[in-house]
Amino acid sequence: MKNSNRVKKAIIPAAGLGTRFLPATKAQPKEMLPVVDKPAIQYVVEEAVAAGLKDLLIITGRGKRAIEDHFDRSFELEHYLESSGRLSELSRIQEIAQLADFHYVRQASPRGLGDAVSAAKSHVGNEPFAVLLADDLMDIKEGVLNSMLQAYSNAPSTILALKEVSDEEISLYGCVEIDGEDSSGLKIVTGIVEKPDLIDAPSNLAVMGRYVFTPSIFEALNEVTPGKGGEIQLTDAIDIQLKNEPVRGFVFSKGRYDIGNKIDYLRATIEIALTRPDIKDEILKFIKKISLS
Ligand code: UTP
Repeated sequence: MKNSNRVKKAIIPAAGLGTRFLPATKAQPKEMLPVVDKPAIQYVVEEAVAAGLKDLLIITGRGKRAIEDHFDRSFELEHYLESSGRLSELSRIQEIAQLADFHYVRQASPRGLGDAVSAAKSHVGNEPFAVLLADDLMDIKEGVLNSMLQAYSNAPSTILALKEVSDEEISLYGCVEIDGEDSSGLKIVTGIVEKPDLIDAPSNLAVMGRYVFTPSIFEALNEVTPGKGGEIQLTDAIDIQLKNEPVRGFVFSKGRYDIGNKIDYLRATIEIALTRPDIKDEILKFIKKISLS
């Protein structure tokens, strides 16, 4: 693999206001909501690390201190766990800070996902990079990010994670126009629109929260003018980029949760709990009991 074809950095935007999850997100970041017993963003960090990305830049903002604290050492807690002999909890806590090389940059105000990604420019420089949305959980077993990075190393281009969604859902997402496939089965993306009305949607393929970008996305972001609500949309920058260079889509079908959405959050909690040997049986018993009553 050519060195320039290797993606080493991941950007995790986590500066949004989380308004769909108020009041839980009034004074705590949405990305720190627990799924079973881990904050959502830790799953995302673990997914990046499992895909070989150890240099992580988290985009934070006002009210997001808890994220930095979570991935930092906690000497007082470590001392307490050690002196009370709770060594397995101690090592779980210590491992969090050692997961990756964490970097942070603040987005001055939540002016949209495109603006959040722009804030990564000086950290990323002229390299390809991955973006993982902190409120989108992906089942690591499905290997979506891994497959996207592999596809990038075989043939560099911007690559979007795509999932087929229903007519009712399409207006919640960025939606792509497709013109066939390349030799590796990736879709050739020829257009993209943010949250279209069903009648204007070019397909049923929606963009999910995993991306691999060539660095020219930063130039494209510079050209984007603020849209609805003054937000700089990442979708608009991708639309500019695909006019100048190939953009491809990797389609997956399973194992994704939007934890900014209440129903999906609860689904993630239950499905992930059912993968955990320590609690699976009790949860199953509980589900059976309530479904019979
Ligand atoms: P969302 O649109 O899902 O997050 O952005 P939001 O704006 O916090 O949510 P609602 O709609 O108000 O409930 C996807 C990801 O991008 C980040 C968010 O933190 C989330 O992880 N984001 C969004 C930013 O970092 N900056 C922004 O300006 C907007």
